[in-house]
Amino acid sequence: MAALEGQMNSEERNLIKQLILQKKPKVVFEIGTWKGGGSTLSIASGLFENKSGVLYTCETEKAFFQQAVESFNEYFQEYKPFVIFHNESSSIILKSLIEENKIPDFVLLDGIAARQKEDIDDINNLEKYLSDGAIIAYHDSKIQLIVNDYFSTNKNWKKIHEVNSSTGFTVCEFKK
Ligand SMILES: C[S@@+](CC[C@H](N)C(=O)[O-])C[C@H]1O[C@@H](n2cnc3c(N)ncnc32)[C@H](O)[C@@H]1O
Repeated sequence: MAALEGQMNSEERNLIKQLILQKKPKVVFEIGTWKGGGSTLSIASGLFENKSGVLYTCETEKAFFQQAVESFNEYFQEYKPFVIFHNESSSIILKSLIEENKIPDFVLLDGIAARQKEDIDDINNLEKYLSDGAIIAYHDSKIQLIVNDYFSTNKNWKKIHEVNSSTGFTVCEFKK
């Protein structure tokens, strides 16, 4: 069906969708849309089935952002009420969501290793506003060592899933 490219493998995509169906988040925040056919499509498809929640997904590279928007317009019109695409840095979008009191209850971290420190600073700031049960899933735990160390050592986050793959897709739940 989808002429949409994505980077997550099928196990990771299925896990993301199952989590969305199970947790029924209201505000989903994603760092790293890329071309839209990986985690973004899995989240959108889950929200569509839930008939609730909105995904705010960020992609700094204009060509990827445009490809994702165009592909959803062409192939996944029905998902569009559940997804807002941003061609902007995640730090800026997360700040404006917090200012608008749209506090994410589901976060997908799939940016780049070079920005791990900034991503963690943003998450650390977000924690002040999070409710118990909020979910963070992150990709590349075996590469993004700063991210992995943060969630492994912070007592407010408990690991609830880990995909046994070369990339290491990990899911954590928040509790104050
Ligand atoms: C690994 S890819 C995302 C793959 C995608 N989630 C998938 O499943 O196909 C990472 C993307 O994140 C983007 N990116 C990295 N840091 C970002 C940031 N802080 N804000 C927005 N986009 C970012 C990069 O341009 C890149 O396209």
